[in-house]
Amino acid sequence: MHITILGGGGFLGRKLAQRLAADGALGGRAITGMTLFDLAEPAPVPASFTVRTLAGDLGDAAALTAAIPDDTGAIFHLAAVVSAAAEADYDLGIRVNLLGTLAVVNRCRELVVAPRVVFPSSVASFGGGQDARVRDDERQVPTNSYGAQKAMAELALNDASRRGFLDAVCIRLPTVVVRPGRPNKAASSFASAILREPLLGLATDCPVFPDFRLWICSPRSAVAWFLHAATMDTAPLGLERGVNPPGMTASVAEMLDALESVAGAEARRLVHIVPDTVVQDIVRGWPSGFVPDRALALGFAGHEPLADVVRAFMGDDLAATKADRGLA
Ligand SMILES: NC(=O)c1ccc[n+]([C@@H]2O[C@H](COP(=O)([O-])OP(=O)(O)OC[C@H]3O[C@@H](n4cnc5c(N)ncnc54)[C@H](O)[C@@H]3O)[C@@H](O)[C@H]2O)c1
Repeated sequence: MHITILGGGGFLGRKLAQRLAADGALGGRAITGMTLFDLAEPAPVPASFTVRTLAGDLGDAAALTAAIPDDTGAIFHLAAVVSAAAEADYDLGIRVNLLGTLAVVNRCRELVVAPRVVFPSSVASFGGGQDARVRDDERQVPTNSYGAQKAMAELALNDASRRGFLDAVCIRLPTVVVRPGRPNKAASSFASAILREPLLGLATDCPVFPDFRLWICSPRSAVAWFLHAATMDTAPLGLERGVNPPGMTASVAEMLDALESVAGAEARRLVHIVPDTVVQDIVRGWPSGFVPDRALALGFAGHEPLADVVRAFMGDDLAATKADRGLA
């Protein structure tokens, strides 16, 4: 089976590619080849099967055809413009997050066998704010353009699944913590920065107050959910291909407690609360809690504790992040 990762050069795309390369198989089927597709050509990933790395734009039909060969069994559609960038540039967000997904649907219509499409939607596709406890039948009423584009893409993938063009599972990912590398344009960038930067020995500003709560998950859980979504029986999903996975609620203070428990009080002292109303205006609309009964019943694994998330970053990504930022 061939596998394509759109957005394969990004944070989660790269982690997923490394995991698939290590596993060599997906759902008991041998992987015969993998394509990593992104705006800039992704770095190669060593594997026992052929890995192609392609540069291209989702909006370029010929590039997408090259990225999704006819024997593709699974597509991980991770390519996206993230939250603050999509809010700052409406046209770009629509072009990539909505029209790019419709382009993926169109390419799938040309394939003889409908591929599984795993699509990370987002917690940002819901409103409700700090006090929300989102249930599985909650309507998606986003408070930002990124969330709206994700919700629209989900609807398109629901309908394409109903029509048999593809077989989608949309995972409404929590904010993924800890993101390696540098701060990025996601409004939630601080959620990783308050753990990552002190572990690098760097000070960082936190734009929200310590009691601010977020719905988060680790990169390890996100990748595990992607793999489950790629291999699960989709019949129980029916027409609704969106799933709220079992992330966890964490306040900034709880995240700093976890940091301190692993790295000491001096690490915690590197985080300074500096309120930023632009960031607050985006993130305060996002729900901080879910009741993910459906996902648990569908076999999505529950979440590990916060201290393990900090330790996993130190084990998986700290050295590479230090090297990347010239801190090694
Ligand atoms: N990281 C999170 O906290 C989080 C939370 C919820 C949902 N998600 C979703 O998960 C997916 C992966 O997130 P990530 O954190 O790895 O993001 P990322 O920004 O690291 O990766 C996304 C990749 O998509 C690529 N891309 C953007 N426009 C493209 C285009 N027109 N054509 C081809 N490639 C394009 C980017 O270059 C980037 O490498 C995204 O769809 C994101 O919306 C992420």
